[in-house]
Formats: sequence, structure tokens, C-alpha cells
Amino acid sequence: MNPVSISYEGEISIVKISNPPVNAISLEVRNGLLDAINELEKKEEVKAVIICAPNRTFLAGADIREFGKNLGGPTLSEICNKIEKLNKYVIASLHGTPLGGGLEVAMACHFRIATPNTKVGLPEVLLGILPGAGGTQRLPRLAGIEMGLEMMLTGKHVPSQEAIENGIIDKIFEHTDTISNGINYAKELIQNNSKIKRTSENFSKVKSEEDYSEIINEIRNKYKSKHKNLFSPNAIIESVQQGLKLEFYAAINNERKLFEDCLYSPQREGLIHTFFSERAVNKIPELKTAKSKDIKKVGVIGGGTMGTGISMAALNAGLSVIMVERDEELIKKSFKKIESTYQRNVDLGRISLEEKNKLLGNFIGGTELEKIADRELIIEAVFEEMDIKKEIFTKLNKICPSDTILASNTSYLDINEIAKVTNNPERMLGMHFFSPANIMKLLEIIVGEKTSAETVATAFSLGKKMKKIPVRSGVCDGFIGNRILSKYLVATYHMVEDGASIYDIDRVIREFGCAMGPFQVIDLAGGDIGWATRKRKAPFRSKNDRYVEIPDRVCERGWFGQKVGKGYYLYGKDVKPLTPNPEIEEICKSERERVGINPKEFSDKEILDRYITALVLEGVKILEEKIAIKPSDIDVVYNNGYGFPRWRGGPMNYADKIGLDKILNNIKSYEKENSNFWSCPKLLEQLVSEGRKFKDLN
Ligand code: CAA
Repeated sequence: MNPVSISYEGEISIVKISNPPVNAISLEVRNGLLDAINELEKKEEVKAVIICAPNRTFLAGADIREFGKNLGGPTLSEICNKIEKLNKYVIASLHGTPLGGGLEVAMACHFRIATPNTKVGLPEVLLGILPGAGGTQRLPRLAGIEMGLEMMLTGKHVPSQEAIENGIIDKIFEHTDTISNGINYAKELIQNNSKIKRTSENFSKVKSEEDYSEIINEIRNKYKSKHKNLFSPNAIIESVQQGLKLEFYAAINNERKLFEDCLYSPQREGLIHTFFSERAVNKIPELKTAKSKDIKKVGVIGGGTMGTGISMAALNAGLSVIMVERDEELIKKSFKKIESTYQRNVDLGRISLEEKNKLLGNFIGGTELEKIADRELIIEAVFEEMDIKKEIFTKLNKICPSDTILASNTSYLDINEIAKVTNNPERMLGMHFFSPANIMKLLEIIVGEKTSAETVATAFSLGKKMKKIPVRSGVCDGFIGNRILSKYLVATYHMVEDGASIYDIDRVIREFGCAMGPFQVIDLAGGDIGWATRKRKAPFRSKNDRYVEIPDRVCERGWFGQKVGKGYYLYGKDVKPLTPNPEIEEICKSERERVGINPKEFSDKEILDRYITALVLEGVKILEEKIAIKPSDIDVVYNNGYGFPRWRGGPMNYADKIGLDKILNNIKSYEKENSNFWSCPKLLEQLVSEGRKFKDLN
């Protein structure tokens, strides 16, 4: 069925697009739109055309599943140019999220009207491309160079009020019926004999004779570090800057060329894999069978960094929060942190004073556990010690109704073991937040042996309310993220003991695109955290495991990283970032001597190969054991919790790209040195022998 239909109301024509769920501009939509314009071109009696998509949202952009497929048909850019050239009023009647190609269609129309909740944007940069249907030329003409570039380089969604203030839309209608809004506006235009306003002819904000190079350079510098390694932000700036010197349609052709360069780049592929992976996290068995409960009242146990962050994430979601801590002082400290974070948001104009007070009004602190007995869901965030956790859940089991959902924010411990102290373990699960929990998007939802589908569905829905990306994980030491982290950290320690420099490893990983190298991460998180884990695991370590003591030697000196001013690097007001701690090399040297290792040189390639191979190896084991349901979930965990470059799509997607046979060969060659650590998972051998990829398991 043609997703584009035309109807007529007197001299007004209504072009309606319907391509659920988000009216993405697929090949059929492009064909349908072109046919509609060709038909309307011929109809002289039609004075005004309304383009709308009355279901969930106005067009949310190109259909990104079609990228790189070369399906032919008219380009959206051609369609937009034809729309703009029509000799009758063309009105885009917007609602929902007109994004990317959707906003580009709207900007090619002569007028844009919107409902109050509409948000517009050009988020292509987040997908590794640039607006390729006139967006880089039309948005600056409507909103100015600065606002236009700002929108295109951040991909932010701009609310209708801000859009009208910046000239992107013309009028806001209180009514939500986009067709009647369009008809009313069209009648007004016809009655007033208004002038057609073509965006390409609008020179009020961008004057061709003016030199914008200074402004553009300032913006380029502003986003330089944010967009490090990325290809498309530069292409966006180039398209805008070069367009200023070209006639409009020459600028459009130039934009198209830059668009195609981005379209066929591996970064685009990686970022679109990331986009779909983040939506696929919801494809889990529990969400197919169970309904979630609507949670409004949350309890948080523990007022440390995690408990405070989790409380803020819950408050931001409009929930009522009661926090319980052992002593009053800690509650006060936590409240102070929450208050100062919100005050900062007020100072930065992100929220009003009224909103801040409302958020704080939803927070209560106390020292008695009984205080949280009325909560619908409780998140425990105390020390990582099994006995303490068991004691807390034993008490909660007594004081809370049997349907209160009980969650632990543990990052390693066995949820099944904790659940044993409750009478009904089906309401128990893990909700593993990442620090700072009010900011970080990742939330691992740990499903125990007995956790019910309803409990899982509720935790997912709460996570989304808190603006998190929830990822389902089974129970194992460290779950998806930290278990993989432990593996590649050990591989890294092996390399260091064998002769690699800590600072070379960090540099190589940064150059690969990760936000930080592994030793920078240790310094940031606090070396004592990993040390405690190593001590906890020591009794279970096999004699055959190779154990490197260098990190223990560092911790024994109290060098826990940033919080104490010294770790693998030095920190302080006058210390340059990434200044190595000069004593670390000495420790490495003496440890190598102690265990009788003759240090060898590691090339950058070998460092990267070993690091990535260890990461992917543990990822495959996690899939084999069904801890993660699909490879793309591991990608989401790594992109959102561990600073893996989003444009590489995540470690499993990256492994697909470099070839699983290469990963397998690496494992087999390292296996010769240490078969205990580098044992090869059957699943990987099977995938390679069948010529399949991880993406075939998604
Ligand atoms: N193409 C194809 N499918 C899309 C899509 C798109 N542009 N946008 C969303 N979808 C799909 C999602 O994958 C999801 O599918 P499943 O239900 O199968 O998982 C479904 O639509 C609903 O999406 P969300 O779960 O994200 O729904 P939401 O209500 O939370 O958010 C949204 C809606 C704000 C539109 C969000 O989906 C979004 O941001 N989409 C991407 C918008 C975008 O980037 N547009 C620019 C595209 S590139 C372009 O237009 C280039 C150009 O210049 C021509």
C-alpha cells in the first residue's frame, strides 16, 4: 500500500504520510511523495498543500535500515527541491519528533507550523552522517549559522518554543490535530494572499557577502575534543562553510557528495549498529510475557556515591525517594550533594528554582530501615560484602510486603545467593548502575534463577523512566561488563609483566578511540576497588593461573589514583594531565626481575590485538553461557559503560569487522603461551567454521 495519500478540501490538498512506527522516509515514502508532488504540480486549482503524518510523529527521518543498500529511487534531496519549487503554499504541519530528513522536508516547505510538544532536530551526526537533503543549507538560512551548526553538531532535539524563537517554525497551534491546524493556516495564507517563503531565498540570517570564518572556526574548536576521531562533524562544517560561497543548488550538490562520503564510511555503519543495538536491548523473553508494575515510590539503602547518584536518577524521573543510611551525618552529606547538583543545574539555567525545590521535596532521608517499608521498589547500594547484603535483605524480607521488588546494586556478587534470604526470591534481582549513576546511561539488569518475568519487566520500565539503557544479564561474577573488564585487565597485566609500558598501553587504547586507557580508568575508579576484588577472589584462584602482582605493589603504597593524587599517574592542581608516576616503572622492573621475566618489546599492534582479543574472548564465553542473550547487548554495555568508541559499534561488532577468524587465530597463537587464560570457546570455532558472524546471533 502506498504510504502517501492525497485528499482535497476545496482548494487545499492534504498529503498524508503513514509509515509506522515513526513514519521513517523509506523508498516507498520517497516514491509516494514524488508522485504526490508531480500530481499537485499539475493541479492549478490547488492553492495550498499540507504535508503531515498524523499518527505517532511527523517524519522522524530517513529510514536508516536502508543506508548503504543502494535501493535507487529519487533521493530525498531531489524531493525537497521539488517541494520547495511548487508554486502554491506548502505547509508542513508538525508534531512529535520531526528529525533528520523529516525536518529537511519541513524546511523545504514554505511554512512550518507545530503542536506545542513538537521537538525538531538534525541528529545525523549521531549516526555518522550529515543532513543530506538540504539540511546543511536550509537550517542556517532559517536559524543562522551558529544555531544551525550547534544543532547539527550536537544532534539535539529543539522544543517548539525554542524553534519558533529561532525562526525554524512559524507558528505553534495549541490544538493537536495536525490536519485541522494545517487547513486553518492554509486558509489564512490564501485569504491574506501571503507571499510564498522559500527557505533557499531567505538571506535574512545568512548573508552571502559576510565572512563567517571566525564564527565557524570558533565552533569547530568548541567541538574538536568531543568529536575527536569522528568524520561526519567535519563534513557538516565543510558543507556549511563551502555552501556560503556557492549558488544554492551547487551547495546542495556539494552537500550530497559529502553525505555520500559519510554514508559509505565504517563509522556510519558502527553508529547505526549502535542505534539499533540500543533499541534491541528490549527484545528479551520477559518483556514478551509480562507486564511491568508502575513504580512511583523508591527506597535507596546507602548514601554513598552510588546511593546518592541512584537517588538523583530516581528523583529526575519524578519518583518519590526515601534514602536510609546508618548515621545522620551521611544522610546530610548525601542530601548536600543532591542539593548542590540541582543548584548547579539552576545556575546553568537547566532547571528553575521551583523545579529544584520540587525535586528536593520528593526526597526524604532517615536512619531506620523501617522507614522504607512502604516503598514499591528498593535498591540496596551498600558495601560489596555478601554478609552485609544478606543482613539487609533478611531485614527487608521481614518488614516489606511480599510484592515489594528488591534490587541490589552489586557489581559482582551472586544475586541467587542474596535472594536465598528472602521468602519469595522471584521479586529479587540486580540493578547495576554505573557511576555517576545520575549521569551514566547503562543499567545492567541482573536476572536471578528465580526472578519473575514481572520483576524483570518492572526493572526495565523503571530503568527507562530513569532515562537509562537497561541491558539484561544473567548471574556470574561481574555480570557482562565487569566480567569482561576483569579478563582484559588481566591480559593487560600480563603484557606489562612481559615488558609492555603501562603508558604505551593507555595511549594505544586511546588512539583506538576509547575514552581512556585501562590504567587511567583504574586511577579514576580507585585502585583499591580492584584490589578488594582480587583479594576476594584469591582463595578461588587456581595454582595454574598466572597472577601478576604489579597492581598489588601499587596499591600497597596507597596509590589508589585520582582520589589520593597518585596512582599510575600523578594528579594535582599544577600537574599536567597524564603525567606518569615516575616510580611505577621501577615497580614493574623489580617485579619482572622477581619472577624472572626478561622483558620484550610490544608493538602498538600487538598491544591492541591482545587487548581486543581478550575482550572478545570473554564476550563469546558470556554468550555461550547465556549470560548475555545476544552479542549486541555486549556492545551496548561496552559503548555506554566502558567508554568503547560508539562509532566502532562495540567490541563484538568490531570483531565482526576485523574478522572472527583473526580473533580465533590470535587466541590459538596466545594459547601456546598460556592455555589456561587463552582457551578457545567452541562457539567461536563454530562461527568461524560456518563463515558466520556475531551479527548472525543478534
Ligand atoms: N529509521 C528506521 N527505523 C527507525 C527510525 C529511523 N529513522 N527511527 C526509529 N526507528 C524505529 C526504531 O528502531 C524502533 O524500532 P523497533 O520498535 O523495531 O525497535 C521504532 O522505530 C521506535 O523507535 P524508538 O524505540 O526509538 O521510539 P521512541 O519513541 O523512543 O523514539 C525517535 C522515537 C525519537 C524518533 C527515535 O526513534 C529516534 O531518535 N530515531 C532516529 C531519528 C533520526 O536519527 N533521524 C535521522 C535519520 S538520518 C536522515 O534523516 C538522513 C537524511 O538526511 C536524509
